[in-house]
Amino acid sequence: MDTNKRPDDMKRINTPELAEAFIDEQVKAIQAQVGDGKVLLALSGGVDSSVCAALIMKAIGQQLVCVHVNHGLLRKGEPEQVIEVFRNQLQGNLVYVDATDRFLDKLAGVKDPETKRKIIGKEFIDVFVEEAKKLNGIKFLGQGTIYPDILESADGIKAHHNVGGLPEELNFELVEPVKLLYKDEVRMVGRALGLPEGMVDRQPFPGPGLGVRCVGAITRDRLEAVRESDAILREEFANAGLQGKVWQYFTVVPPITSTGIKDGKRTDDWMVIIRAVNSVDATAATVPEIPYELLFKIRDRIFKEVNGVNRVLFDLSTKPLATIEYE
Ligand code: XMP
Repeated sequence: MDTNKRPDDMKRINTPELAEAFIDEQVKAIQAQVGDGKVLLALSGGVDSSVCAALIMKAIGQQLVCVHVNHGLLRKGEPEQVIEVFRNQLQGNLVYVDATDRFLDKLAGVKDPETKRKIIGKEFIDVFVEEAKKLNGIKFLGQGTIYPDILESADGIKAHHNVGGLPEELNFELVEPVKLLYKDEVRMVGRALGLPEGMVDRQPFPGPGLGVRCVGAITRDRLEAVRESDAILREEFANAGLQGKVWQYFTVVPPITSTGIKDGKRTDDWMVIIRAVNSVDATAATVPEIPYELLFKIRDRIFKEVNGVNRVLFDLSTKPLATIEYE
């Protein structure tokens, strides 16, 4: 039997009851597979890895070791939320690695988007492997692979992002409890596991994180402008009831400045671009109408709270011709 094929008669998990039944079944399966062994898992804080971690934790508790690598390109509040949920609330075994300096030093002066991505991907694996080697007796690797990942790698559309890259010497056996689920089912299971709504309903967020929104060579001060303006945008969209209604929204700060005026003096500062899109599967995207009142409020807060910015723009570009992200 191909364990990577979703059985034709598998019901779509679209009720809390079906989610509970799935959880019970997977808890037993994980316990049977792992026994008293230890499982290692890279926990990004995204929907898939979070749900996978909570599920494995329910099955084997402290036998799961989660490693959360902060590459310095996460959104405001994200590492704190991972620690709060998995260490404080679920009482899990969580190793938190703040690798910000390491990543930003490697990225200093690097302009090319693909090179930036490669550096981030490689560094991530290096940090993870270093942590794995510090831990003894780990036989299993937990992964939040989901069904679209399997379908896409089978179609040759993209390499299986979860599997590629780890050195074979680590010799892990995989534990992938949500690999036959679609995204909406993963969210349903996450809710049934009691994960916070903000984590389960999270908008898509690229692996290289804010790195692809701090266009060109990343500097710490411009990255801070991206992070702070993004936090303001998310807060104001949530206040306006748009969270979960607009598919994805974020801010971008390109490496260009323009002339402004502050306290009677000329400034030469950055611009924050607001990007908000609707999409079904990210292959195409439209731009929703956002009320001017809300945009003005966001502009005023960015002007007041974010250093080094003198202009705020709204991106009208659909995909195609633009992509959703800037790099
Ligand atoms: P694009 O920019 O290709 O993005 O229209 C499509 C969706 O995929 C998300 N995403 C990524 N985009 N690099 C990207 O450029 C990544 O590593 C990545 N991971 C996810 C992106 O946020 C958008 O929703």
